[in-house]
Amino acid sequence: MAQCKNDGNSIKIEGGRPLHGSVRIQSSKNATLPIMAACLLIPGKSTLKACPDITDVAYMSRLLECAGAGVEISPAPTGIDISITAGNITNCRLPSRYVKAMRSSVILMGALLGRVGEAYVDYPGGCVIGERPIDLHLSGLEKLGAQIWIEGNRIHAYADELKGACINFPFPSVGATQNIILAAVTAKGTTVIKNAAREPEVTVLCEFLNKAGADITLPESFWTEGRLIINGTPLSRLCATDFDMIPDRIVTGTYMFATMAAGGSIKLENVPIEQLYSVWAIITKMGGSITYDDEKKTLAVSAPEKGRLKNIEFIETDVYPGFPTDLQSQLMAAAAIARGELTIKESIFSSRFKIAEELRRMGADIRTDGNTAIINGVAALTGRNVIAHELRGGAALAIAGLAASGITTISDISYINRGYQDIVGDLRCLGAKISYE
Ligand code: UD1
Repeated sequence: MAQCKNDGNSIKIEGGRPLHGSVRIQSSKNATLPIMAACLLIPGKSTLKACPDITDVAYMSRLLECAGAGVEISPAPTGIDISITAGNITNCRLPSRYVKAMRSSVILMGALLGRVGEAYVDYPGGCVIGERPIDLHLSGLEKLGAQIWIEGNRIHAYADELKGACINFPFPSVGATQNIILAAVTAKGTTVIKNAAREPEVTVLCEFLNKAGADITLPESFWTEGRLIINGTPLSRLCATDFDMIPDRIVTGTYMFATMAAGGSIKLENVPIEQLYSVWAIITKMGGSITYDDEKKTLAVSAPEKGRLKNIEFIETDVYPGFPTDLQSQLMAAAAIARGELTIKESIFSSRFKIAEELRRMGADIRTDGNTAIINGVAALTGRNVIAHELRGGAALAIAGLAASGITTISDISYINRGYQDIVGDLRCLGAKISYE
């Protein structure tokens, strides 16, 4: 297990060394946060096991406490166990400080409406990866019977009683799907969501809620057209439950692309392989090699130590099970030193190429135009002082630093700590020369 987590402000990497070693993958940030929010609907004490020890989870814990829930955190062999007791939810006004720190706090609206019929949260503004409106969240909650007022920068949602409805999303938004599920679980009657998001972070939320007594069905048509059915269950029938958190597919993909960039041969334990076929396909097309041991749940990834990989020609980010936008920057970093040209079309977010500028400072040849980036692989990158502007882009800079010659220093790593429990410790387990500074 990685063991060098600390609170440094930057990460220093001595690059140009292939990776060798093994590491256990942390649990999923994007699965943990909505399940923590779901605990607001359950009066007893639920324990979420092996959650990631990251700042976003700490913010969500604070928000649940502000609402009146009890939150106990204890160390686990990997990450932390979080016990949440929502016996008495007394406050539906969430403090701006924590809401603004974490955009996904918006899903607490659905949980609070379902639990106490009212919620006040801040309006999440634009974001460094592009505009992130919440119109689908709000219109879905209104369909369930909530009244919504925008008061300055605050959103006030209120419902005497939530009632099941048919909600047809124009786009399968992950957060909006989760928000509606959380509100509909205790609504009166049946809610049908059409074009719901099919990401694992949605299905695992349903699995948790069903384990707690909810009645959510994912019919065959869920997998083809995102049809999801929630039969409302009275709050009194929801019971506390323990739940093992799922591994993080994005952290796994990050270390897969790190091996592509640096070369070498690594093993990853606790891997959600069934969620990663789109990544597997790209890596093998680039010339990397992957094997999965079904019994040990271990993934072996290797790439030539000398000689460059070849770029695939085109990739477009897509909703699950397509190639995830959350791995687009990591692919860009690996592609920056592969042979040939890769065109990336970013189809989910409007402005997710902030990392290109930092990679160019390291010698990469990348042009961006709107939601398209063209990466012309160069023979080598050079270590530089670079800045993490956001979570996944920051992790991608670590990948570039591993491949570059000389020293790379990444500043503003608080972004990276939002989602990676200990990226430095993990990469050290994989043989990297890397430290917090
Ligand atoms: C979640 C993930 C994020 C991931 C993203 C896409 C969490 C905490 N975050 O974010 O890491 O990159 O899914 O897989 O789980 N949209 C609207 N109106 C809305 C909601 C969304 O127009 O009301 C648009 C967004 O601007 C974006 C697209 O839909 O262009 C996808 O967003 P969405 O799936 O909602 O992403 P998040 O839930 O915010």
